[in-house]
Amino acid sequence: MSNVLIGVTGGIACYKIPSLCRRLLDKGHSVRVIMTEAATKFITPLTFESLTHERVYIDDFREGEEPDNIYHIDLVKWADVFVIAPATANTIAKISYGIADNLLTSSVLAKPDDVPLIVVPSMNTVMYESRQNQNNLAGLYELGYEIVDPVIGNLACKDVGIGKMPEPEDLADLVDSRLKSREEYKNINFLITAGGTKEYIDPVRFISNKSSGKMGLAFCDSVKKRGGSFRLICPSSVEAHYPAVFADTAGDMLARVNDFISECDILIMAAAVADYKPKKYFSSKIKKNNGHMCVDLEKNPDILQEISGYKRKNQVFVGFAAESDNLQENALKKLKDKKLDMIVANDISRKDIGFDSLYNEVTVFFADGKVEHIGKKRKSEIAEDILNFAVNIFKNKKGFK
Ligand SMILES: Cc1cc2nc3c(=O)[nH]c(=O)nc-3n(C[C@H](O)[C@H](O)[C@H](O)COP(=O)(O)O)c2cc1C
Repeated sequence: MSNVLIGVTGGIACYKIPSLCRRLLDKGHSVRVIMTEAATKFITPLTFESLTHERVYIDDFREGEEPDNIYHIDLVKWADVFVIAPATANTIAKISYGIADNLLTSSVLAKPDDVPLIVVPSMNTVMYESRQNQNNLAGLYELGYEIVDPVIGNLACKDVGIGKMPEPEDLADLVDSRLKSREEYKNINFLITAGGTKEYIDPVRFISNKSSGKMGLAFCDSVKKRGGSFRLICPSSVEAHYPAVFADTAGDMLARVNDFISECDILIMAAAVADYKPKKYFSSKIKKNNGHMCVDLEKNPDILQEISGYKRKNQVFVGFAAESDNLQENALKKLKDKKLDMIVANDISRKDIGFDSLYNEVTVFFADGKVEHIGKKRKSEIAEDILNFAVNIFKNKKGFK
């Protein structure tokens, strides 16, 4: 049994939320409801109070009550999952900018990182598709919140189009599955590498690549959202919003991966590790001169190849292959040579995806010969799909479904 906090905002789909509460209660969860003032115009708090046998929370500034609770802090601490349904365009905009002007929006800001937030937008099609709303939704994605897309249907405004809230039974199933995966993730340790290594020529110059670390960070966000724990290894230049173990060069990264590999169940090797490094390192800055300058390169260690020798049988290793030619052939060779469970291959000749972009499109090759193509999506969504694959492989190895 888990604790579900539902935030209800002032949209016409409010009438479906008692049914959502009912279904979550039927699944054995405890439900508490926060309403915005606008929501109370559509449905009375009494409906939710009667269903949940709990008071409904509307206002953080109560008078005449014992000041023993600060609701915007306490409710999110109580919650295992926080769902905002329906989410109005107004509340979505406020959340994306960190505005905290009522109990619901303050609770979002006070939410601990490991409590997933699921936002269920519902509104008229033009409102939904407006640039403002789409930008605000993109902001919520970047914050690591899950957005449940509205469906196409007859809307209350008599239009037919996108904007309708999915049915309560589907939402209840989704919330339930997120809670289950949270339990699952609690027992899995992830080791995630991100970003492009730097191979120094002298104290100020280095050879690197275009990797921004966004894909690796998207994995951290997804693991965190699902209640799992991870260790992140990345170059210090990656703008990581998590504590990280820094490793600037391929050599450092190999050493750090070696330090932590034994404690991990699933390794996600999303860092772009330089294949070569300068043969000689100049300890003083090289002075400019009129002559020809040549940097001799030598091969770096291949981290996955090095650690493949002592991979435990229950561990899952996920590799990445950024290729401009012969994508499949190269990916399959790496998969086999490095004893990976799966390799995520992307075509770096495309400008609209991959390095430094928020989007990617990948093909995943599995050790058992299976192949899955994931069409162009946000890196955050690709991370979710890949995690699902990796966790399923891990569960199969451990012998539980
Ligand atoms: C009849 C009516 C229906 C509405 N339906 C929606 C809706 O479905 N989605 C939405 O985003 N806003 C809708 N609105 C506008 C919101 O109620 C309004 O933006 C309000 O300020 C939202 O406040 P809240 O986000 O604090 O709940 C509706 C307004 C009215 C009067």
